[in-house]
Amino acid sequence: MILLLALLLISDGVGTAHCSTVSGNSTDMLSLLDFKRDITNDPRQALGSWNASIPHCEWKGVNCSLTHPGRVTVLNLTEQGLSGSISPSLGNLTFLETLDLSTNSFTGEL
Ligand SMILES: *[C@@H]1O[C@H](CO)[C@@H](O)[C@H](O)[C@H]1NC(C)=O
Ligand SMILES: *[C@@H]1O[C@H](CO)[C@@H](O)[C@H](O)[C@H]1NC(C)=O
Ligand SMILES: *[C@@H]1O[C@H](CO)[C@@H](O)[C@H](O)[C@H]1NC(C)=O
Ligand SMILES: *[C@@H]1O[C@H](CO)[C@@H](O)[C@H](O)[C@H]1NC(C)=O
Ligand SMILES: *[C@@H]1O[C@H](CO)[C@@H](O)[C@H](O)[C@H]1NC(C)=O
Repeated sequence: MILLLALLLISDGVGTAHCSTVSGNSTDMLSLLDFKRDITNDPRQALGSWNASIPHCEWKGVNCSLTHPGRVTVLNLTEQGLSGSISPSLGNLTFLETLDLSTNSFTGEL
């Protein structure tokens, strides 16, 4: 009984650690995909590389932290002719240091 309980605790611990690693890695990717979803027009295909087959740190306009893998530090989409609204999901990019969305056609509130 005690052995079973110990095994359950161990497997639960492993499962939790695994889950938090995965979500820690993909949180910023999901925030960026939310951002992309609110873009209604992308005439230069600026977000064409923004798909799950490419690591989000290599997406156009995105740079990530050197010390925290997967965390976005730069989002620079200046002069891309983008239309749409700016998703509140940007607020979840908690490592963001540089945001440049100038010279686009965004509407609405942030
Ligand atoms: C992802 O983007 C790359 C680069 O633009 C492109 O070659 C690839 O076909 C895209 N993959 C999907 C699934 O859209
Ligand atoms: C973003 O990353 C690229 C390649 O790693 C680098 O050349 C560029 O200077 C970085 N840009 C910024 C704004 O940090
Ligand atoms: C996920 O996190 C691990 C460890 O923090 C890191 O080595 C790996 O590069 C990350 N993967 C991506 C896709 O960011
Ligand atoms: C964004 O990128 C453009 C073009 O590469 C560059 O001129 C501009 O200085 C960058 N913005 C910031 C805030 O770094
Ligand atoms: C921000 O992250 C939280 C926690 O993961 C999530 O519940 C929320 O939906 C996210 N907000 C946006 C606007 O993506």
